[in-house]
Amino acid sequence: MPLLIKNGEIVTADSRYYADIYVADQTISQIGKDLEVPPDTEIIDAAGKLIFPGFIDPHVHIYLPFMATFAKDTHATASKAALVGGTTTFIEMCCPSRLDDALEGYALWKSKAEGNTACDYTFHMSVTKFDDKTESQLREIVADGINSFKIFLAYKNFFGIDDGETYETMKLAKKLGVIVTAHCENAELVSRLQASLLAEGKTGPEWHEPSRPESVEAEGTNRFATFLENTGATGYVVHLSCQPALDIAIAAKARGVKLFVESVLPHFLLDKTYAERPGVEGFKHVMSPPLRDKRNQSALWNGLSAGFIDTVGTDHCPFDTSQKELGKDAFTQIPNGIPGIEERVNLLYTYGYKAGLIDIHRFVDAASTQAAKIFGLFPRKGTIAVGSDADLVIYDPKYRGVVSAKTQHTNNDYNGFEGMSIEGRPSVVTVRGKIQVKDGEFVGEEGRGQMIKREPIY
Ligand code: URP
Ligand code: ZN
Ligand code: ZN
Repeated sequence: MPLLIKNGEIVTADSRYYADIYVADQTISQIGKDLEVPPDTEIIDAAGKLIFPGFIDPHVHIYLPFMATFAKDTHATASKAALVGGTTTFIEMCCPSRLDDALEGYALWKSKAEGNTACDYTFHMSVTKFDDKTESQLREIVADGINSFKIFLAYKNFFGIDDGETYETMKLAKKLGVIVTAHCENAELVSRLQASLLAEGKTGPEWHEPSRPESVEAEGTNRFATFLENTGATGYVVHLSCQPALDIAIAAKARGVKLFVESVLPHFLLDKTYAERPGVEGFKHVMSPPLRDKRNQSALWNGLSAGFIDTVGTDHCPFDTSQKELGKDAFTQIPNGIPGIEERVNLLYTYGYKAGLIDIHRFVDAASTQAAKIFGLFPRKGTIAVGSDADLVIYDPKYRGVVSAKTQHTNNDYNGFEGMSIEGRPSVVTVRGKIQVKDGEFVGEEGRGQMIKREPIY
């Protein structure tokens, strides 16, 4: 049924104005005042509400075999959680291990998502080895609508690749016009530091951060930027967590390296003292790169405000309490990851925009528009314009609430942001014109999500 959203205030990355939006056939067909619409149109009164373009999470893990277990969400649970939180498209990391071929992995990840996802989605294709078959397989995957690769400089012997493989991946990416995203930590240093801490009997989660210090991430970021510089490829640092790594990225951008930067929700709001909490509380806050010393947070917020940090993702990666306890004898066995797909928009709005650290346009830009532009979804996604998909978030700025595992939709028994207040939430969320969420509850069509095909653009 066609939809008319009346009386709302539209806010995009570069504009703010009052107008009505008419949606027919999944896309926005008119924006303006006193629109003429057919009699069978459903009307939503958005008076007092902000209307944002559907938010895009550029970094999530849903199906994920990792560290002797599997992340807890299904595409059904994660996508409903995403939608309740205002995210209408996510980009999932397709992460086969070094033992699997790229094409096999890609087919498996696609089969998990297809028909089971309530929001739109696409994938970053991880390159976890580069052998004789890799180039032709990656070419097939790109031809199927994927325009971003993912490499891990960390996770030795599992997802991690060496410098030679990094070089080959970047040369191919440059040839194909594909962007390379990267987890930037020095794998060798991490494994040496882990071994030496364990040998000293330092086994608890509080030793996770010292095993992957800021300098180890800065080295990875520098190596990634240096490889981009010398191959001409375009890159995107995922989950940049600290000032030294940010300084490296800014310097690389300034000398013309084609480099984008993402930071993720936990690093803006949580710090390493969370992983130092006693009992299982500490385990819940282990991710990589680790939660850092609090002084890094102002560098991240300032970098975000200035646009040095292009996007904010989540690195959503849910392992429950019993899975986290796999690491009770050694922090190196704690499955890495903190979920956040449902909280990203509301917490960024509250602690970024409402707190005065970023303006409202940068909020929309970092949480939606930049991801659409960088990954080839724009202007279909990431904005409110005639012809764009009708992915809309009608946001209630008067809502007040508290984040809690008791009310979350992601499939987990804890929430890393438990107890944080929020000042606003989506009141209605649409995916290509279909109402999927009303007032904090999923009310829509479970398998509505489509894989969005993306062309090479670099
Ligand atoms: O701790 C994290 N980040 N877990 C997911 C895997 C990754 O490195 O992105
Ligand atoms: Zn990572
Ligand atoms: Zn990740």
